[in-house]
Amino acid sequence: MEHVITKKEDLNAADYLIEVVAPEVAKKFKPGNFAVLITIPEGERIPMSIQEAHGDKITMFIKRLGKTSKELDTWKPGDAFHKIIGPMGTPPPLKKYGNVVFCSDLVCGHAENYAMCKELKKMECNHVVSIQTFPTEADIYPEKYLCTEVCDEFILTTKDGSRGRKGHYMDILKEMMEAGKVDQVFAGGDMPALRDLSALTKKYDVPVYTTVRQIMVDGTGMCGSCRVFIDGEMKLTCIDGPMFDGHKVDWEAALSRLAMFKAKEAEAMECYLKKMEGIE
Ligand SMILES: Cc1cc2nc3c(=O)[nH]c(=O)nc-3n(C[C@H](O)[C@H](O)[C@H](O)COP(=O)(O)OP(=O)(O)OC[C@H]3O[C@@H](n4cnc5c(N)ncnc54)[C@H](O)[C@@H]3O)c2cc1C
Ligand code: FES
Repeated sequence: MEHVITKKEDLNAADYLIEVVAPEVAKKFKPGNFAVLITIPEGERIPMSIQEAHGDKITMFIKRLGKTSKELDTWKPGDAFHKIIGPMGTPPPLKKYGNVVFCSDLVCGHAENYAMCKELKKMECNHVVSIQTFPTEADIYPEKYLCTEVCDEFILTTKDGSRGRKGHYMDILKEMMEAGKVDQVFAGGDMPALRDLSALTKKYDVPVYTTVRQIMVDGTGMCGSCRVFIDGEMKLTCIDGPMFDGHKVDWEAALSRLAMFKAKEAEAMECYLKKMEGIE
């Protein structure tokens, strides 16, 4: 099966959307799943949250960050991935929670926010609030890719206050928890913020599921690279996660493992840029 790109669109100056043919992944997709993308036969495997599955296609939001995401940004509709593996991961139960709040402040979190709010809203008895944080007005995604239509109440915040409420999702959530209005929190995005969110929700005794992103090598449970400790027990984020009970995550271990590969990634990016300079 050819995994052909059918749509590619900028979301803002840093993030773009890709829609790609992946029938097997689309058929089995559950909100909270991710896919493993392999651009070329010798390419690395990169995990990406799935924002939506429709027909035989899946949509993902991607940040131009390092070697592979920048290289992929030069691709156009009609270009095809070598392989797409998935759907991967074990999403948390999507059921009747009552007052549910989903918070996100980064590309992967925004994709999860969209997919999971859409599902949670379908269930009677859930009142779904989506909070999306962007740095400034210029970074906000086009309206159709925000969570506006997939929740009961949408709150947009910018860190500089240039549009929506000023501040981070954490400020709004704190107010809501103080008013006793939250039964369950879900969140994805920046890892240190998710650590702080887990501590904050614990203080208010509100349960939270957060994404715990780790470096994935195979993405299929074989290498152990994505291991995390949940309540002292080792789990694999590619198989058991990537969402876990935030109150039980060993955040310091997870954050320090994530920083381990920075030098290698910088080296890969430098090689890619040199290669591009040679081509131009
Ligand atoms: C479950 C999961 C879901 C994700 N969803 C999204 C998403 O929806 N959108 C998005 O833009 N990014 C997402 N990511 C992160 C994405 O996989 C990395 O940004 C991507 O691999 C970067 O590759 P690169 O070569 O462009 O950059 P690199 O320079 O190689 O890496 C840049 C940063 O990306 C992360 N990263 C790199 N390689 C991996 C890897 N193999 N596994 C996990 N993280 C890695 C690290 O934090 C690293 O510092 C997700 C990661 C995980 C684990
Ligand atoms: S990425 Fe290898 S075990 Fe999860």
